[in-house]
Amino acid sequence: MKIGIIGGTGGMGKGFAIRWCKNHNVLIGSRDATKASESALEYSKNASEQYGTIKGTITGKDNLSVTKESDVLVLSIPYENIDSICSQLLPNVKDDCVVISPIVPLTKTDAGFEFISFIEKKPSAFELVQKHMKNKSKLVAAFHTISEKKLIDSKLILDSDIFVCGDDQNSIDVVNELIKEIRTLRPILLGPGSLSYLAEIATPILLNAMIKNKLRNPGIKII
Ligand SMILES: NC(=O)c1ccc[n+]([C@@H]2O[C@H](COP(=O)([O-])OP(=O)(O)OC[C@H]3O[C@@H](n4cnc5c(N)ncnc54)[C@H](OP(=O)(O)O)[C@@H]3O)[C@@H](O)[C@H]2O)c1
Repeated sequence: MKIGIIGGTGGMGKGFAIRWCKNHNVLIGSRDATKASESALEYSKNASEQYGTIKGTITGKDNLSVTKESDVLVLSIPYENIDSICSQLLPNVKDDCVVISPIVPLTKTDAGFEFISFIEKKPSAFELVQKHMKNKSKLVAAFHTISEKKLIDSKLILDSDIFVCGDDQNSIDVVNELIKEIRTLRPILLGPGSLSYLAEIATPILLNAMIKNKLRNPGIKII
């Protein structure tokens, strides 16, 4: 399976690439193809150091090429740039491509981390992305509460849950399998895409808890 990561040069992109290249071919996307290739090379070296050998590959390309080739496409981009990026890219996905949104509408205020959608009365990340989808049911929200630091180090025991929201069971199944491939992560279904804001809002909760209580890279687990 080819997994494309739009904005794959960022911290989350690195984490996803290092985890999934064990079994899949990962395509790092960037607005700048050279930057994408450099990141892909760095991640490949890092993955080889961590695992010895990997079954898949990590290569870098411009965002549009990645979009056209991917079977699963992760939108690893800031909330503020959803419209500009998705309007260009999402009309070009393969018909059966599953699109994953880990995007969190997050801002830092004097009070702490807050949820942009509430304080600025804006749509959730899922709603914004879905507007640009050819097949709206192929969008799945996941990975909001796992930090890039934890994904990047494959030796870490994550022991965390990942909230999943979506409208198509086949697409949810694909994402659940990718979550389970990351050792000690567990997918937890919250409901349809319309409830994705509940998963997205978990991130500012987690970050405020982390800062105020001096916790180190906390995660969420339902017990
Ligand atoms: N970091 C975390 O631990 C974490 C955890 C959970 C969820 N998330 C969510 O996951 C997403 C990715 O997080 P991240 O920390 O990896 O993000 P990031 O480093 O801020 O950005 C990721 C990539 O997005 C592209 N980008 C940045 N500004 C852009 C713009 N103006 N227009 C188009 N593309 C732009 C850049 O790629 P190019 O310059 O190469 O195009 C950048 O490398 C975010 O929505 C975040 O809320 C993050």
